[in-house]
Amino acid sequence: MHPGSIGVFDSGYGGLTVLKEMVQRLPDYDFLYLGDNARAPYGTRSFETVYQYTKEAVDWFFKQGCPLVILACNTASAKALRTIQQQDLQQYEPFRRVLGVIRPTAEVIGDYTKNGHIGILATPGTVQSQSYLLEIKKFSPEAHIVQQACPLWVPLIENNLHHQPGANYFIESCVQELLQQDSAIDTLLLGCTHYPIIYDAIRKAIPPSVQLIAQGGIVAESLVQYLQRHPDMDQRLSRSGKRIFYTTDNAADFQSHTALFYGEEVEVRETKL
Ligand code: DGL
Repeated sequence: MHPGSIGVFDSGYGGLTVLKEMVQRLPDYDFLYLGDNARAPYGTRSFETVYQYTKEAVDWFFKQGCPLVILACNTASAKALRTIQQQDLQQYEPFRRVLGVIRPTAEVIGDYTKNGHIGILATPGTVQSQSYLLEIKKFSPEAHIVQQACPLWVPLIENNLHHQPGANYFIESCVQELLQQDSAIDTLLLGCTHYPIIYDAIRKAIPPSVQLIAQGGIVAESLVQYLQRHPDMDQRLSRSGKRIFYTTDNAADFQSHTALFYGEEVEVRETKL
């Protein structure tokens, strides 16, 4: 048995906001990151396309020797995870696992709200999938949940346009549409791993009494607990503190975004799916 890295996948840079939190909590473990920037964004693509792209990425991680892959992308978790877990994993060695970000977030989001009113901002794909509604209801059946799709946020962030004058209009208008659906929201979840990058702009657009929750810490904490519950998987993971970053697009472009999304600039390699 060759121990391998934990694979972390996103359509682009967003998963780096989750990886950062995982690395803080599991500093000795090796991590392998892949951003499919050449085909981002996923949020406006069909179910079939997101599934196909995500499956190709999972296959790539397994070929690199990762026993465990985290889809650090809500859109991929919403549209591809279930089929991959139920259908595709059978083709691989039985110990391989793929986990997402929606379930661990849905498990605990009910603990944050005092009045049970939860708002979710996410990509159109995640919203249409209804995954958050279905998953949160399993753990917090009384919760009142509304969602708002923000189709332009990922393109703005991926293209580094979110600081430009004008970006605020698109940020504020989505937030307002969500608050108009339910003005009693006391907990607002960022249901896309790109959105922590515009956390401050969103914070300014909501009343101070509303809690704004980014999911990176929640997902990282859930991974720690998963490894405690699954010592068989834990012992398959290599631990030399290595972090390796790949993109399907231009490495230099990706590298220039890593300080913003990951907190430090790192070396990046290119690959094809
Ligand atoms: N970070 C992805 C998510 O969490 C963004 C998806 C996209 O590429 O639109 O949903």
